[in-house]
Amino acid sequence: MFRASGSQDIATARAGTNIAFIKYWGVADPELNLPLSNSISMTLASAVTTTTVRWDTRANMYMDEVTIDGETLFGDKASRVVRHLDYIRELAGGVPFRAKVVSQNNFPMASGIASSASGFAALTVAACAAIGLRVEKDRLSAIARRGSGSARRSIFGGFVEWEQGREDNSSVAHQLYPEEHWNLRDVIVVVDSNSKHVSSQRGHVLAATSPFNVARIDRLFSVLQEVRTAIATCDLDRLGPIIERDALAMHGVMMTSNPSLIYWQPATVEVIKAVRRWRDEDNLRAYFTIDAGPNVHIICEPSTEPEILLRLKELSCVEKVITSGPGPEPELLKHHLIK
Ligand code: PMV
Repeated sequence: MFRASGSQDIATARAGTNIAFIKYWGVADPELNLPLSNSISMTLASAVTTTTVRWDTRANMYMDEVTIDGETLFGDKASRVVRHLDYIRELAGGVPFRAKVVSQNNFPMASGIASSASGFAALTVAACAAIGLRVEKDRLSAIARRGSGSARRSIFGGFVEWEQGREDNSSVAHQLYPEEHWNLRDVIVVVDSNSKHVSSQRGHVLAATSPFNVARIDRLFSVLQEVRTAIATCDLDRLGPIIERDALAMHGVMMTSNPSLIYWQPATVEVIKAVRRWRDEDNLRAYFTIDAGPNVHIICEPSTEPEILLRLKELSCVEKVITSGPGPEPELLKHHLIK
């Protein structure tokens, strides 16, 4: 349980983003962010969001103030965060306080590195702690899901499954294994650090317009079981081909939605092909997956990581590389981003 200590009105939380092995794509209920299937992910240690929330209990502010990565957001840009604060105000008994929110990502936002997962996880933990809402992790994770579906998984560390559920209370996430279970590596290849043009929120709604959406969801039941077993036995060569196929299936759904969504750049394909070439020709055990953006996540074991990093240096399309292993659940910090 994340406890708010005393009657503080400020709190800071750090949360890791997560990389989905089996993706959440498409919504059964866009208001509650209820998914069409289970999903499985690994929470990351090194791609994190730190967020401070200070509630204005003296009622000096007439609106919420949101700053992310140094930019103060207004209007539509701030509305997703403000809606989440509204929800937390309601849960806290309808308190009238406005909030100041300052958030910092240590990786490019909204480019397929799931900044909304770590962002809404950190925001939820900090906002609830600062307002004195004492909630169990399950409940906290349900609150985070309202902001962004994948945030639900970032409330847990290590390897995490989010069960579809049919309503708010049954759509729950739980930890499959803690971070110490398997030192799997995620080499995040940033080929484009610009924000994506179409949000995943909009993409989830469009998924239903693709003829391939139902086909992907239908086969997930057995695929999920394979992924659970591969993680249980730390078997990369079992996990890898499945996560590649699901990433391609999800992007197939995106591309065949109406209107069509293409998050990839030419460089995305270049990295995909390089990974396959290294594997086929040189037996380099590495597999790719891609979230809602152009950047490629290469999943490998620690022994292969240095060789992958060397080879990525030879690809001119690579802007930046971030590496991470599995990380812990969100943490409350003593040091705040607001003075
Ligand atoms: O949580 P959202 O709405 O940003 O959606 C996440 C979608 C994917 O990252 C593509 C898949 C996933 O399960 O994280």
